[in-house]
Amino acid sequence: MTEPQPDPNAVAPSVANLDVIVSLAKRRGFVFPSSEIYGGINAVWDYGPLGVELKNNVKRAWWRAMVQERDDVVGVDAGILMHPQVWVTSGHVGSFSDPLVECASCRRRYRLDELPGTEELTQTDIKDPEIVDRLKLTCPADGGKLSAPRRFNLMFKTYMGPVEDEAAIVYLRPETAQGSYVNFKNVRESTRKKLPFGIAQIGKSFRNEISPGNFVFRMREFEQMEMQYFVRPREGAATAFEEWLPKRMAWYEAYGVTRSRLRFREHAPDELAHYAKKAIDVEYRFPFGWKELEGIHNRGDWDLGNHAKASGENLEYFDPATDEHFIPWVVETAAGADRAAFTFLIDAYREEEVRGEKRVVLGIHPDLAPYKVAVLPLLKKRPEIVELCHRIKDDLKRQTMAVYDDTAAIGKLYRRQDEIGTPWCVTVDVDSLEDGNVTVRDRDAMTQERISAGQVTRYITDKLDAARPRGL
Ligand code: GAP
Repeated sequence: MTEPQPDPNAVAPSVANLDVIVSLAKRRGFVFPSSEIYGGINAVWDYGPLGVELKNNVKRAWWRAMVQERDDVVGVDAGILMHPQVWVTSGHVGSFSDPLVECASCRRRYRLDELPGTEELTQTDIKDPEIVDRLKLTCPADGGKLSAPRRFNLMFKTYMGPVEDEAAIVYLRPETAQGSYVNFKNVRESTRKKLPFGIAQIGKSFRNEISPGNFVFRMREFEQMEMQYFVRPREGAATAFEEWLPKRMAWYEAYGVTRSRLRFREHAPDELAHYAKKAIDVEYRFPFGWKELEGIHNRGDWDLGNHAKASGENLEYFDPATDEHFIPWVVETAAGADRAAFTFLIDAYREEEVRGEKRVVLGIHPDLAPYKVAVLPLLKKRPEIVELCHRIKDDLKRQTMAVYDDTAAIGKLYRRQDEIGTPWCVTVDVDSLEDGNVTVRDRDAMTQERISAGQVTRYITDKLDAARPRGL
């Protein structure tokens, strides 16, 4: 990579303590622990009323950039359950595993490369069966003796049909990518796309992670936003790889993530996933360190080539310009919808002082904000004011997410909307009944503007349109 990288130690996270975000998320209805009334279930989180809006907006923004605004990428939505042979052929049954160690006294299990003292280890070290003794690693909980590492496969298994035997085993997909590969021929024939072209997909994936954690950063059920770009072999992949890298970084930046908290990191050869010839991650400076946000992978002809061999289908592409038949190579952009939403949320969070009081603001991009506008009455005791509020809000709702709130005094209502990132508030007061004008308050600048009540919807939709990134 030629681009200058930020000094990793000099970059502070946007919030020092993750608990601030976890507590905001719970209190305001972004994210709840799953099955909480039963004590919760580890590594699964539920999105609340605001969280589902945020995540849907993130997915929409990704789809717009990756499919809607491009001529060379189309979408699919494949099943989570697939023929089990898919996962044998893809290499996941054999190789999709992490190194697991177990404490002999307390029986706690850990992912070896997440233990304290393993930060600098290479993947070659991690695969060394003697590594626990060599580094004298012990259980972080009780200092007990740890076992030698064994490979733990991350795929969830279940049974299809009424008989629970070996022949009925199917897997919950650990990546969406395979659904795009097995549909390569269907998509090419039905759309008549010529190389290079891509297949994009958003959907749930499942991994039985050994050590999930850090809120929604690593879960066992999560959502991916992946795009498989089919290209001519070798040079085609090298070119596409270099083109997609800056594009994917630019997407996060355009939606508001601070550039200095983003960086690229290339995988070392011994760190590459079983399918990858080259991989570069977009990383973000989370409160718990620099971590992967998205991976850009050159998967070569690993997937299509293996599926062609194993299924007997001809998955070659015929290029009439050169009269060649070949298996296309793939450049993949693999992002997480939860991780992206989490990143936008953390990076937008700020606390500031306004007239001697703390103001918490989620300065999130208007396109991603759960509510775009809140309509507020200055006096809820005046029925004409409340009625005008509802008329404005109902008109807005035909175009975008708008809410009415009268459960506190105006100052408090503004603060509540600031905290959940609502870019604009519309206030109706006594004068509005006389002159037909209302006040529009901007979340970030806190400036106020008087406009005609009849113009509000147009004003907001114009602002939203102007803010929307283009040509990403
Ligand atoms: N198809 C390639 C692939 O799945 P990956 O790097 O394993 O590559 C891609 O995953 C993205 O999916 C990650 O960058 C991350 O954003 C998201 N992701 C992966 N595992 C996750 C987990 N356990 N919890 C939340 N997001 C996850």
